[in-house]
Amino acid sequence: MIKKTISQTGLTDVLLKEKQLYKPSAKTLKMAKIKNVPATLKAAQKDPLKFWEEAATELEWFAPWKKVFEDRHKPFYEWFVGGKCNIVHNALDRHMDTPVEKKTAILWESDAGKHRQFTYRQLHTAVNKMANGLKMLGVKKGDRVATYLQNIPEAAITMLACAKIGAIHSVVYAGFSGNALATRLKDGRVKVLVTSNVGHRRGKVIDMKTVCDDALKQCHFVKKMIVVRQNDDLVKMKRNRDFFYHDLVDPQSDICKTVPVDSEHPLFILYTSGTTGTPKGIIHVHGGYMVGVNRSFQWAFDIRGDETYWCTADPGWITGHSYIVYAPLMAGITTLMFEGVPDYPRPDRIWKIVEKYKVNILYTAPTLIRALMRYGEQWPKKHDLSSLHLLGSVGEPINPEAWRWYHKNIGHGKCPIIDTWWQTETGMFMITPLPATPLKSGSATFPFPGIEVDVVDSKGNSAPAGKGGFLVIKNQWPSMLRGVYKDPARYKKTYWNKIKGVYFTGDLAHRDKDGYFWIQGRSDDVLSIAGHRIGSAEIESALVSHPAVVEAGVIGKPDEIKGERAKAFVILKKKYKLSESLIAELKKHVRSELGPIAVPSELEFVEKLPKTRSGKIMRRVLKAQELGEKLGDVSTLAD
Ligand code: WTA
Repeated sequence: MIKKTISQTGLTDVLLKEKQLYKPSAKTLKMAKIKNVPATLKAAQKDPLKFWEEAATELEWFAPWKKVFEDRHKPFYEWFVGGKCNIVHNALDRHMDTPVEKKTAILWESDAGKHRQFTYRQLHTAVNKMANGLKMLGVKKGDRVATYLQNIPEAAITMLACAKIGAIHSVVYAGFSGNALATRLKDGRVKVLVTSNVGHRRGKVIDMKTVCDDALKQCHFVKKMIVVRQNDDLVKMKRNRDFFYHDLVDPQSDICKTVPVDSEHPLFILYTSGTTGTPKGIIHVHGGYMVGVNRSFQWAFDIRGDETYWCTADPGWITGHSYIVYAPLMAGITTLMFEGVPDYPRPDRIWKIVEKYKVNILYTAPTLIRALMRYGEQWPKKHDLSSLHLLGSVGEPINPEAWRWYHKNIGHGKCPIIDTWWQTETGMFMITPLPATPLKSGSATFPFPGIEVDVVDSKGNSAPAGKGGFLVIKNQWPSMLRGVYKDPARYKKTYWNKIKGVYFTGDLAHRDKDGYFWIQGRSDDVLSIAGHRIGSAEIESALVSHPAVVEAGVIGKPDEIKGERAKAFVILKKKYKLSESLIAELKKHVRSELGPIAVPSELEFVEKLPKTRSGKIMRRVLKAQELGEKLGDVSTLAD
């Protein structure tokens, strides 16, 4: 169902006022791979298959494809049909015995400021050993291996080791609770889980192993658990099920053959929130994914091969998959991984790291920029940020104020801001400037070459300039999702049957008279809290699973820092009385069902919830009432 209207997102006015053009600097233009953006867009639009085929030749294949694109089984599209490849061959193997081998692949800094690094050769060895370790535990091509790890090198090593042997990784964000982890393990029928004994955050030690032990009580099909030791604390290990990472991996051979897989062989499953209580397992495959991710990274971030690059995301989200691990390694550059948080121990942590490692490209999220903006510009001023030449943004619309702060105080007016719009499902950037694109603060500018994007009404008619509508993608692209794991019907219904013939993104947008796209948030009941996608329905079902709750309706409210926060309207069972302690208990319950990111910041107890005659909660009515907006069409309201 399409529920929000453009005015309800509250962003239109700010965005419409903001039309100032930022031209690329002479230096940016000089460096730019693509100097004539309009001509490049036009050529790719004329023949997208030619464009993608050319992009595919930049990578190595074990056997060439017979057909670039196949749409026989719409909407189950295939790319590079008949080709044999493996993304790990492109991310690691092909760099061996070349000058890249000696370069730093991963730079890592811990929460406490400890440092580790891997050259490409060392990473290759570490991945081979882990792949052999997985094989020893019985992992075979097509098996699912889950990780529940913080941002540590072993997270990347495990992903690569799985891909290398044709196993499918399912990375679960380490901020999720044991229950949320179990839901994902069950859906993927996971064979092996990789975790660490503890994690670190803001100087505190977080117990990770116990969360996994709890999850595995519900998941007996998970036969083995691999535990990375992060400190010397005593760890309770289950015999024949649990293995310490180093005990398993260190004795392994450092030789492991990369398995050639079909282009369409699944690379990973990544769960993301939708409009129902169950997350969707989004499937990506080796061939098309590597092509889309590589080309988009190389072009949008103008990669020359000698950069130190830092994406502040977590490997638990798509940004971590595509643009912390796979794209930078395929490009042979240095990718920085950071375990900690941006304002610990002081609000300049992030700027300190940029200075220390001489980061050239910083890719982060608007929520982080807004949070750091609040501490003031004296913090970035303490550091030499002159190594930066390009800035990126992702996750939610960047408001013009944050855009300008980032541009002035971090980029010193010289770095282009590449605002990349994309999704777990798209695998790669879909709307993004290239460095030579003139920018408007707050707009993601134009579609990536080869991608056809439109703003339409509910019947699929293109909206005129300035008028809002549904953001859709009108053609196919190589790194598109290949489905929802074990649920083809949901795949069709969610993405292809909402508006006929096009991919439905779920976002609202408009295009201005110059053709710039302005993203305005979601049209459905999916919240974006600090850039994390979470469904209203998921939070509601977590609340309803508490014995005191009869029913709950959850909406998103604007939040200055996080973009959005959740408010829950709750109907209590008669025998329960409203109290501070009950509120605290319900919050705790959501935390244990889903994890801290899903906890509503506000709870309101109500007698009744607005519903349709068929009994569905009308969240948009709750939201309009809460924000003092017009109710809109309430003809389906029951009461
Ligand atoms: C939102 C994250 C505006 C959007 C890569 C999308 C954005 C959802 C932007 C996907 C952006 C992401 N400007 N909105 N630059 N990037 N979004 O799957 O609503 O975690 O549908 O992927 O984030 O979130 P996901």
